[in-house]
Amino acid sequence: MHHQTKAASSLAPPPVSPLGLYVHWPFCKAKCPYCDFNSHVSNDIDADAFLAAYLTEMTYMADQLEQPASLSSIFFGGGTPSLMPAFVVEGIIDKAAAIFGFMPAIEISAEANPTSVEASKMLDFHHAGVNRISMGVQSLRDDTLAFLGREHSADEARKALTTVRTAFDNMSIDLMYATPNQTPADWHDELSTALALGLDHLSLYQLTIESGTHFYTRQRRGEVMALDDDHAATLFDITRMLTRDAGLPAYEISNHAKDGYECRHNLIYWQSGNWLGIGPGAHSRFTQQDHRIGISTRRSPAGWLAAIAKDGHATDTLVTDGKNDWAAEMLMMGLRLTSGLSLARLSAACGPYHNWLDIEGLRKCHDAGWLLVTPDITAINADTDIANLHIRASDAGAIRLNHILAELIL
Ligand SMILES: C[S@@+](CC[C@H](N)C(=O)[O-])C[C@H]1O[C@@H](n2cnc3c(N)ncnc32)[C@H](O)[C@@H]1O
Ligand code: SF4
Repeated sequence: MHHQTKAASSLAPPPVSPLGLYVHWPFCKAKCPYCDFNSHVSNDIDADAFLAAYLTEMTYMADQLEQPASLSSIFFGGGTPSLMPAFVVEGIIDKAAAIFGFMPAIEISAEANPTSVEASKMLDFHHAGVNRISMGVQSLRDDTLAFLGREHSADEARKALTTVRTAFDNMSIDLMYATPNQTPADWHDELSTALALGLDHLSLYQLTIESGTHFYTRQRRGEVMALDDDHAATLFDITRMLTRDAGLPAYEISNHAKDGYECRHNLIYWQSGNWLGIGPGAHSRFTQQDHRIGISTRRSPAGWLAAIAKDGHATDTLVTDGKNDWAAEMLMMGLRLTSGLSLARLSAACGPYHNWLDIEGLRKCHDAGWLLVTPDITAINADTDIANLHIRASDAGAIRLNHILAELIL
């Protein structure tokens, strides 16, 4: 029986506000040379101990909320969640249904690596209640996969996708682009091939060189590890154009979907909603009265397990942000969405805009064509009703969001 059915019949009270649950699985078969996620390689994983710790931490986190809330999404991320034993996934979903209750069309996503073994595991995950898969294909070209240090081939990824598709009607893949020497024609071909796979959602990430990774070390030694900004911007334009034409337009900087298939869980982040995170290094963020609470947990898997066994939780840091920090978060996250955000909604949550918004910066970004406003006005001046503007980044703005945010945030 599927959990959607279980959820609909559960006796949870009517939802107060939608809530997301993030579950971090911190293990991978090998560490990829570009990756700075909290992921570890280990041959010695006590899955029973992990399940018990996840359940304890879930109960603890639920108790931190002021009011009960039903879950609108669960996201198993990593690391490589497709390496989780299915009984761990099932145990977490069952406990979440019991503690929170599920909203009727709950989205339960899992990230998966594209190997044949993990693809057949996804069928067990489906049985456990997972209804959306995000597969880390990374490239449809073997030379790029080799450069990225991935263990699968393009052919293996395609076969895994076909297997998983038999059970899931909501599927996404991740691809990375802007690798060194990648030409516009290369990316045009690869993305066209990906769009022809008939998926519902695509996450298309420009390769970034993160400190502490093997690629970072190589870059410091003088090797060119990623495309320069100007060439990457050309590939970004191609990405926006091809995805739009194929009916999976960008709804966020790196995310593209058919209408109605936007990732529900990630939308909670970008709309600054409420979510609880469990597992090593997971983050939680939720609103409590006028404050925004942020909790992060111990990053090391052994340290996390030990803390939960000892204290019943593994909180590493806890912050209580006021309204101005919350406004900054909402601008930062909301401008990633192509639909942007309403300053009226922000003011309702975070108080008068002159406390957190730099009007001169807003004017500059609008004049430069990086920010589009509704109602559509030619210039922002003393007569503009700022509190009622809706703002969003143009395609030109989307590639310089950090610059825009530095202008906007007081
Ligand atoms: C946690 S991983 C996804 C699951 C799985 N472990 C995998 O690698 O297939 C999240 C995604 O972030 C992207 N990613 C990770 N490091 C990146 C980097 N340095 N630059 C761009 N994208 C990156 C990859 O596309 C990856 O699939
Ligand atoms: S990219 Fe994915 S598989 Fe590779 S180390 Fe990071 S989390 Fe693990």
